[in-house]
Amino acid sequence: MEVLVETRNLKTHFPILRGMLKRPAGAVRAVDGINLAIQRGQWMGLVGESGCGKTTLGKTILRLLMPTSGHIYFDVPGEIKAEIDLLEYSATNPRRLQALRQEYDLAMNSGNKLKAFRKKMQLVHQDPYTSLNPRMKVENIVGEPLVVHKLLSGRQARDRVAEILFMVGLTDKHMDRYPHQLSGGQRQRIAIARALATNPNFIVFDEPTSALDVSVQAQILNLLKQLKREQQLTYLYITHDLSVAESVCDGIVVMYLGKVVEVGNPVELFCVPKHPYSQALVLSTPIADPQRKRGRIVLPGEVPSPAQPPSGCRFHPRCVRATEECKQVEPVLESVGETSLVACWHPLN
Ligand SMILES: Nc1ncnc2c1ncn2[C@@H]1O[C@H](COP(=O)(O)OP(=O)(O)OP(=O)(O)O)[C@@H](O)[C@H]1O
Ligand SMILES: [Mg+2]
Repeated sequence: MEVLVETRNLKTHFPILRGMLKRPAGAVRAVDGINLAIQRGQWMGLVGESGCGKTTLGKTILRLLMPTSGHIYFDVPGEIKAEIDLLEYSATNPRRLQALRQEYDLAMNSGNKLKAFRKKMQLVHQDPYTSLNPRMKVENIVGEPLVVHKLLSGRQARDRVAEILFMVGLTDKHMDRYPHQLSGGQRQRIAIARALATNPNFIVFDEPTSALDVSVQAQILNLLKQLKREQQLTYLYITHDLSVAESVCDGIVVMYLGKVVEVGNPVELFCVPKHPYSQALVLSTPIADPQRKRGRIVLPGEVPSPAQPPSGCRFHPRCVRATEECKQVEPVLESVGETSLVACWHPLN
């Protein structure tokens, strides 16, 4: 399979500024060294407790946030990517590596080059009511990216908007409406339509259905499935709802305090989690329980501050399996079995 998006040791730290003079006094390490690969056509789920860095990671990959360090490779031709991998590994020709990164690393791009990438990657937020401009009509909300990227204008733009509205299950009757004249589900369809306008191949969804009723949620998920198939899209799907993640995703990333602790396929990850944190997540929200409350994942114990993460394995203060080693040495993400990657000194199963 071909990789569409790959991050290397990606970090996004937010400076903490103190006092009248706003002197730097540390940093919130929201994303703190993420290596992640998303295959073309994959529907990758991203789960973890509130504040663990999911939104920051999604926005950094899209370069809506500037990474502190690390690399983001997006849709790099296979032979170029192989050369970058080799040069990163062998460190034999730093000048060539630097030149390739200038060209292909999103973390290093800016200006028009970044704008060109932006067309290909989009974000859909949780709450379309706050993300859609209440004073704009649907036609302009969906058509705006076409204008910004100078793709279409006038009649052609209107036709394209009508076409996209049709793709998301709406009609041209909705063109002249304002967001407040639409239902929650329709507003989320508009947000999806806007994301589709520039013909992207990668979309980050940040809890796109958590503000919707269960039945509307199911309809939106069906729409996303259909669009993914028809438009050959790749998704990074941030969610608190593990049962949704299990039913729609074909890969899952578990994050804890700015780090990836486990990557695997949903069936294996939710049935036999290998990282104690993944296990705690699964146990906190039993997937087969229809009575289970939707919403935030809540685990026992306090989440440490991402400004001062624990030494060694960041989960060790809350982990029942923690040993001296876990307190001192940070585990790296390693293959366990055929399909899983786990960052733990004492994995389960
Ligand atoms: N702009 C910012 N400035 C400073 N700190 C920030 C900023 N954005 C996020 N943070 C902090 O970074 C950490 C990660 O936040 P983030 O929003 O990425 O988490 P999340 O996993 O998306 O949480 P949730 O599930 O609640 O949406 C949190 O401690 C948060 O307070
Ligand atoms: Mg978030």
